[in-house]
Amino acid sequence: MSEGFDFGDNWRAYLACLDAGHIARAREALAGLLGVESLEGKTFLDIGCGSGIASLAAALLGAEVRSFDLNPKCVECARSLKAKFGPPGATWSIEPGSALDEDFLRSLGQYDVVYSWGVLHHTGDLWKALAIAALPVKEGGILALAIYNDQGRATQAWRLVKRAYNLLPPPLRFLVFYPALIRLWGPTMIKDLFRGRPLHTWRHYGGRGMSPWFDVVDWVGGYPFEAAKPEKVISFFSLRGFSLERLLSADGGSGCNEFRLRNTAPAGSGKPRPRPLETF
Ligand SMILES: C[S@@+](CC[C@H](N)C(=O)[O-])C[C@H]1O[C@@H](n2cnc3c(N)ncnc32)[C@H](O)[C@@H]1O
Repeated sequence: MSEGFDFGDNWRAYLACLDAGHIARAREALAGLLGVESLEGKTFLDIGCGSGIASLAAALLGAEVRSFDLNPKCVECARSLKAKFGPPGATWSIEPGSALDEDFLRSLGQYDVVYSWGVLHHTGDLWKALAIAALPVKEGGILALAIYNDQGRATQAWRLVKRAYNLLPPPLRFLVFYPALIRLWGPTMIKDLFRGRPLHTWRHYGGRGMSPWFDVVDWVGGYPFEAAKPEKVISFFSLRGFSLERLLSADGGSGCNEFRLRNTAPAGSGKPRPRPLETF
């Protein structure tokens, strides 16, 4: 019995269905979150790269990329994605590593962009992981994060669902998975049906190049699982010299709040310093 979800299997299955449309949407979403059209001449660190899709998007935008993930299968996924779709001549390294390993993060140097989408709430120690993720951000650089929204009781209930899913032997996980799928997608599917466009939302799902099926597997299985209210994340980083430039809100739902934070503290000072919003 395992207490943690194996993200690697899900990402491997996702990559088997990946096409150019997914990659284009991932690139568009990354550029939108970072507020850039190009990452030419910039360094990009992807913490918990999963399938490697965001790292690929960064490489396609011209960045020099370094990616790591705790799960060796994810490292393999990202390497295979690079081999298949990576831009020729791109500087992109992929390795195993943990977001909770402070010495490892310190050894990686400083980056223009540190990106960690949907990862730090799965480490088992969200606030430690957030503090460590700030370390490799250059002065004036960006920290881009997505963290599950804390919905109070609903979050606690989902934690139980996810724990139950992971404690069950794989052949019995459908007992948790299908009720969760109905809870997550049932209302939308019924609405689409009554509007005369069955499965419309499911078929047109795909922000960040994701797929609805693999996102549900990721959501139900993703454990350890923590969540945070956006204001708590913003004040946590404001105390560390980061200012919020962009918040893509989960609108009170169970999804992720996305943050674009700018490191406004001079290196080594530990103090915030005001900077203009767009200096990238
Ligand atoms: C929901 S997936 C997100 C993957 C990717 N960032 C994306 O947006 O597609 C979460 C990822 O976090 C990774 N992960 C979990 N704990 C980690 C840790 N301590 N250090 C690094 N990666 C971790 C998992 O292996 C998984 O690939």
